[in-house]
Amino acid sequence: MDKISIKGGARLYGQIPISGAKNAALPLMVASLLTDEPLILTNVPKLADVVFMAELLKSFGVNVEWTPGQKLGEGGTYRLQANRVRGSTAEYDIVRKMRASFFVLGPLVVRVGLAKVSLPGGCAIGARPVDLHLKGLQALGAAIDVAEGYVIADAPAGLAGGEVVFPMVSVGATENVLMAACLAQGRSVLVNAAGEPEIVDLGNCRMAMGAKISGLGTSRIVVDGVSKLHGASHAVLPDRIETGTYAMAVAIAGGEVELTGTTPDLVSSLLELLVLIGAEVSSTGTGIKVVRNGSRPKSVSVDTAPFPGFPTDLQAQFMALMATAEGTSRIRETIFENRFMHVPELVRVGADIKVEGDTAIVTGVGRLHGAPVMATDLRASSSLVLAGLAAEGETIVNRVYHLDRGFERLEEKLRAVGANIERQSE
Ligand code: EPZ
Repeated sequence: MDKISIKGGARLYGQIPISGAKNAALPLMVASLLTDEPLILTNVPKLADVVFMAELLKSFGVNVEWTPGQKLGEGGTYRLQANRVRGSTAEYDIVRKMRASFFVLGPLVVRVGLAKVSLPGGCAIGARPVDLHLKGLQALGAAIDVAEGYVIADAPAGLAGGEVVFPMVSVGATENVLMAACLAQGRSVLVNAAGEPEIVDLGNCRMAMGAKISGLGTSRIVVDGVSKLHGASHAVLPDRIETGTYAMAVAIAGGEVELTGTTPDLVSSLLELLVLIGAEVSSTGTGIKVVRNGSRPKSVSVDTAPFPGFPTDLQAQFMALMATAEGTSRIRETIFENRFMHVPELVRVGADIKVEGDTAIVTGVGRLHGAPVMATDLRASSSLVLAGLAAEGETIVNRVYHLDRGFERLEEKLRAVGANIERQSE
């Protein structure tokens, strides 16, 4: 199993190219099930989850062609064509490995009239139920049955459209229902919908395929169903979590780096905090420049929240940054109930963190100290890399396969700006 070794203390200078967003690419790929014409996706990051999604789609008869990008940060291109959809079952072994597999439920039921998809089960960051996905599809007219660990969604005459009121904001449920609503036979209104940039990207791609959608990016999305979607070409939006992670890498290590191929509006909640801790942040026209020289970062507190609030997917990385800051910070996780698995690992490198319910109280220490640590999930892994950049001595991050699910060529990108980081393959 690969490990990553980081020798801390180097400041970072240069440019880091930002890749396409994993969490946009995955539902965008699934949308290929909605048409028999080719869907061309560019700026696709080469990540384990993306490859996995391509395999899942192949199992439904989707023809998949991949052309890799050439340079660091340059995305690849997928040509996906589902002439005929074969089968309607996503097995447990597939869905348990990648929750995003559950996205096929809506598209399959509306295209084939039937979908049988394994319940994903809980995961390292929380229970993560799928009740909102199911209620949403029910409101559009699907009959839903849950038996022997599988969800069976049945709509032999197609979906009818309807009003879906989400009791809480869910990115995945909004995406699942949005995809199905595009081909339903009437108007669907999604109330309290998620407004994350990845949903806007998904909706824009659907509109390029002929869907009629309004209200993207707001909490009320209206979809007027059409009988057929056609092919389209779409570029995946930049990864805001990768952007935020590297912005914090500069803040924790010090230096001056331009993050290219991304935009400040995707991470404005984080950039505001970075200014408060003492970093300089500016828009360059081609990306975002982050500078931190001189004194230690200052502590600030934050609560995670749906977009445009502070993303839960940046919470672990922000905690690593606050572990080195001057003062005490309170970090409250409001999206997932168990997303502090990185705390004991950060404590191993010398952080002073106490957890009280949904809040981590982080008292900054002058210096972290390198140690072997274990990654528990994707974003937690990246927080350990950030801690390693600031720590004295060597930090070894084990279970790097978590990182490979969501960060494209992380060690190459960081090495290119001066970090002492390398992958050790066994
Ligand atoms: C998406 O997960 C992302 N995954 C997550 O990124 C991200 O952390 C999350 O949104 C929040 O921003 C993808 O886009 C593939 P939710 P998702 O439904 O859609 C509860 C990463 O590291 N809920 O918005 O699964 C749920 O338990 C990953 O890249 C229900 O109760 O998140 C959670 O507490 C991790 N019932 C809250 O809602 C449901 O039916 C928000 O979850 C659905 C969700």
